[in-house]
Amino acid sequence: MEIVRTAAKLRAWSRGERGKGQTVGLVPTMGALHAGHASLIEEAVRLCGRVVVSIFVNPTQFGPNEDFARYPRNFEADCRLAEASGAQVVFAPAVEEMYPGSVEGGDGVGTFVDVEGLSGRLDGASRPGHFRGVATVVAKLLIACEADRAFFGQKDAAQVAVIRRMAADLAVGTEIVVCPIVREADGLALSSRNVYLSAEERRQALVLSRAVRAVEGLVAEGERRADALVAVGRAVFAAEPGVRVDYAALVDWGTLLPVEVAGPGTLFAVAAWVGATRLIDNAVI
Ligand code: PAF
Repeated sequence: MEIVRTAAKLRAWSRGERGKGQTVGLVPTMGALHAGHASLIEEAVRLCGRVVVSIFVNPTQFGPNEDFARYPRNFEADCRLAEASGAQVVFAPAVEEMYPGSVEGGDGVGTFVDVEGLSGRLDGASRPGHFRGVATVVAKLLIACEADRAFFGQKDAAQVAVIRRMAADLAVGTEIVVCPIVREADGLALSSRNVYLSAEERRQALVLSRAVRAVEGLVAEGERRADALVAVGRAVFAAEPGVRVDYAALVDWGTLLPVEVAGPGTLFAVAAWVGATRLIDNAVI
């Protein structure tokens, strides 16, 4: 497996492969790879002849008091997982490569992509600037890679909405593929941030998947009213008072705006603080 450090080299490699008739898949990540990322890479391998995994802890999507500095980093283990899952290339640029103007000695100039409206909803409401950073870095990765398809996890459902909209608005020629949430046996959605949890917090964190399952159960019984569905989700959280809910909402997956009645394309999404760790989960209704 090859490690590529610059956008120019990635583009040259991708063009070379596509010139040979291959399709190229891109799996953007911030590293700390786990079985959820492996499932994205495996899906990319299934659908594309060549697969790139990008590993870049993107500073612009972290707020000033967030966990950028302590975000888990383990490049060697990540490369092993990417290779074992079938990737041909790891793209691991330095911050200077992705944001030349922003680093020491740079000219302070930068171009950002802001998906207006969507960027301020759900996680965007409690993490100002987060989706601007995500949309910017993903746009840069798509431009650098010129992939046929890019793969994202449904766990970050609001991020998926932002990326889909960005890709549509900028007419990026890359298909956005969304893959199912991967869970631990007890229901906890896999996340690189799960490593922050103490044993007690790990137990408390199960409340997110319990809330999602409770809402899915009520939908299966025929309930469609948002207030009833959200109330059930919140009641599950109330039984775990150590966990602080950020949001529990029934929204349209395209606009991330609340809906009054669940229908196709509706998302029940939750975010909550378990100790100092903010976790998310969701289900498409
Ligand atoms: O989901 C992530 O890991 C990141 O937000 C992404 C899409 C790689 C952009 O940095």
